[in-house]
Amino acid sequence: MKPLLRLEGLEAGYGPARVLNGVSFDVGRGEVVALLGRNGMGKTTLVRAVMGLAPWVRGRVLLDGRDLSHETPYRIARAGIGLVPEGRDVFPNLTVRENLIATARRASGPRAWTLERVLDLLPQLRERLGAQGGTLSGGEQQMVAIGRALLINPELLILDEATEGLAPQLRTEVWDCVRTLQAQGQSILLIDKHVAVMRTLADRIVLLEKGRVAWRGAAKALPEDVLQRTLGV
Ligand SMILES: Nc1ncnc2c1ncn2[C@@H]1O[C@H](COP(=O)(O)OP(=O)(O)O)[C@@H](O)[C@H]1O
Ligand SMILES: [Mg+2]
Repeated sequence: MKPLLRLEGLEAGYGPARVLNGVSFDVGRGEVVALLGRNGMGKTTLVRAVMGLAPWVRGRVLLDGRDLSHETPYRIARAGIGLVPEGRDVFPNLTVRENLIATARRASGPRAWTLERVLDLLPQLRERLGAQGGTLSGGEQQMVAIGRALLINPELLILDEATEGLAPQLRTEVWDCVRTLQAQGQSILLIDKHVAVMRTLADRIVLLEKGRVAWRGAAKALPEDVLQRTLGV
């Protein structure tokens, strides 16, 4: 079966500095793949490369067989990749409603995301629709970033450190949200430092070390010694 996302020999970096040294892996339809690795190993650079936001990229990014490697970030998002970026990037001077709908992409069918469906998933945003982005708590900003990405009706949702800096209770809310989406068949590439949670939540794990895939396979099959060696946990 054709994977939803396929990365083939992806290289990327900043000017002369190469960060990704030929990364290849797939995300299948309906699959949750966790991308793990210590700080500075290239996870966010990989996300930027997929989204067309890295200064330079070599290799290929295929979405449903379509080569996106030379597309603009706008066209990549429109092709069906929704990003919840590291740091969230909620527009401070737009309201919650405006943040949510600013980049929305309509879709048809019963599973299409609408503002109403997003507010059912993230009910805490309902009473905050008129609030300015800049006045939101970290947890609320995270929910806005997730809702905004869902409203582009993505084939693939990418979350880059969505639980970073959140209190334990709010982290759990984000993971519950991911589980709900997973149960609905949403394909997800997930970056998160909480390895123990990723081992139970993800279907598959890709371990990144110095811009290379150090290990990949079924989440349940990840050996302790590999974890110890690559993440020190
Ligand atoms: N804008 C940038 N300019 C130059 N180097 C960068 C930039 N962003 C990240 N890097 C470097 O790229 C490497 C990988 O960073 P990053 O992809 O953010 O890793 P991770 O998300 O795994 O923590 C690091 O060495 C980092 O210092
Ligand atoms: Mg990062």
